[in-house]
Amino acid sequence: MIKEAETTKEFDLKGVVPWGRRFDEYEAFFNLRDVPRAASVLDVGGGPASFAAEASSRGMTVTAVDPLYAADGASIRRRFEETCEDMMAGLRSARYRFRWARYGSPEQIEKIRREALEIFLADFEGEGRARYVPASLPHLPFASDAHALALCSHLLFLYGDELDCAFHVAALRELARVAREVRVFPLINLDGRPSSHLPVVMSELEELGLFPELVTVPFEFQIGATQMLRVRRE
Ligand SMILES: C[S@@+](CC[C@H](N)C(=O)[O-])C[C@H]1O[C@@H](n2cnc3c(N)ncnc32)[C@H](O)[C@@H]1O
Repeated sequence: MIKEAETTKEFDLKGVVPWGRRFDEYEAFFNLRDVPRAASVLDVGGGPASFAAEASSRGMTVTAVDPLYAADGASIRRRFEETCEDMMAGLRSARYRFRWARYGSPEQIEKIRREALEIFLADFEGEGRARYVPASLPHLPFASDAHALALCSHLLFLYGDELDCAFHVAALRELARVAREVRVFPLINLDGRPSSHLPVVMSELEELGLFPELVTVPFEFQIGATQMLRVRRE
């Protein structure tokens, strides 16, 4: 049983951190192998992930959305550096709450996050600039049905202490407006517990006429975080 005082100490992050993942990680979080290559994909809360850049170089059409994209590349790099130490301290002290088979060590994770940052920045400051849209949930600047699939990685549910239940419902409703299908991972709080918002959010989405379901994915890093939330309109 994880005690509150211990968990607060482990990840002392002061807000949602700009910590980004790579394409192969997104592919595992979201079971992306079933997504047609021509599908228009949205990465919401994309941050300094290299998913949009790497997916685009594989011929996919990805648009990333994050309030962070209003800043320039140097400021995003600075924000990454400012939070990196807290993330690493959190990972080291919460080491027992993760499965290390894939990554090996906190240091290896930092290396991968830095790779993602560099791939992201090269795209963001170069030819890919147009695919990065500065905007914030729960309001997205896209027409209804503009995208086939919206992904949201390591924002909703993970930061459930900062983002309340009403925010989650509004955000998921908006994601389901702009995309025919929505996938969210992980569904576990930063403190390692299953999100207490999840059952309430799923039942409110059902009341709105949406179809939320839990789907097991081929990835586990936070122990117990083995499912994504999929939301469809029919
Ligand atoms: C932990 S990062 C995850 C980045 C990426 N999705 C990944 O998994 O590698 C969370 C991102 O959510 C962004 N964010 C915070 N509030 C947001 C909001 N209301 N709407 C969209 N993005 C938001 C932050 O700026 C940050 O870049």
